[in-house]
Amino acid sequence: MDAIEAITSRRSIRGFLPTPVPMETVRHLIEVAARAPSGSNIQPWHVHVLGPETRARLSAAVHERRAAQPGFECSQYKYYPVNWREPYIGRRRKIGWDLYSLCGIQKGDTEKMATQHGKNFDFFGAPVGLMLTVEADMELGSWIDCGIFVQTLMIAARGLGLHSCPQAAWAYHHDLVRQAIPLPDNEKVVCGVAIGHEDTDEPANRLRTEREPLERYTTFHA
Ligand SMILES: Cc1cc2nc3c(=O)[nH]c(=O)nc-3n(C[C@H](O)[C@H](O)[C@H](O)COP(=O)(O)O)c2cc1C
Repeated sequence: MDAIEAITSRRSIRGFLPTPVPMETVRHLIEVAARAPSGSNIQPWHVHVLGPETRARLSAAVHERRAAQPGFECSQYKYYPVNWREPYIGRRRKIGWDLYSLCGIQKGDTEKMATQHGKNFDFFGAPVGLMLTVEADMELGSWIDCGIFVQTLMIAARGLGLHSCPQAAWAYHHDLVRQAIPLPDNEKVVCGVAIGHEDTDEPANRLRTEREPLERYTTFHA
């Protein structure tokens, strides 16, 4: 697979087969992803590979909280703007409704929406669950570097025929993540990443997201 094909065939997968991914492959992917550039080569990312025991503990804790306190979230950073506006809110709504309609979820069916969202907390059934963190005193640049690392990891996964889903959902339960792994106090949870083989029978995986035409976000200056 060439680089362009690896990039364009990457999409967020929300249903994986239980087919295992060997630990050797996981290590290889992480080492490849660490070839990502970072400002002054400081490599500020931390990767936590969650084994079965840790995953079970973490998933149980998040599901338990969501059952007891629906809608409860806490995060150490704001992924999204506080005040949503166009064109962003429209794009956000579109992907939400496109996903829900593929899953047979009607507008207003909050229970089914919560169930679909809850799949995040099982890494959508992926055999590999990672958590990405950066140290608390690092600045915005390190978060950029971490994002580049995650994308490199996901493209590398495509190179091996694997699929992925980046998951900010975990960051909204960072306190439970930090207890379950456990994480040092000075590491902030950026996101999780699920990696594995696509379950092609999963309706959510039929989602194909659109992108804006180049002219909308590109300015060619003289
Ligand atoms: C940092 C990051 C966090 C994301 N978090 C989630 C998440 O928690 N759950 C989820 O289902 N998708 C998540 N996504 C996937 C986005 O919804 C997806 O990338 C976007 O809709 C474009 O679709 P595509 O990845 O299939 O191209 C996240 C994407 C990024 C880049």
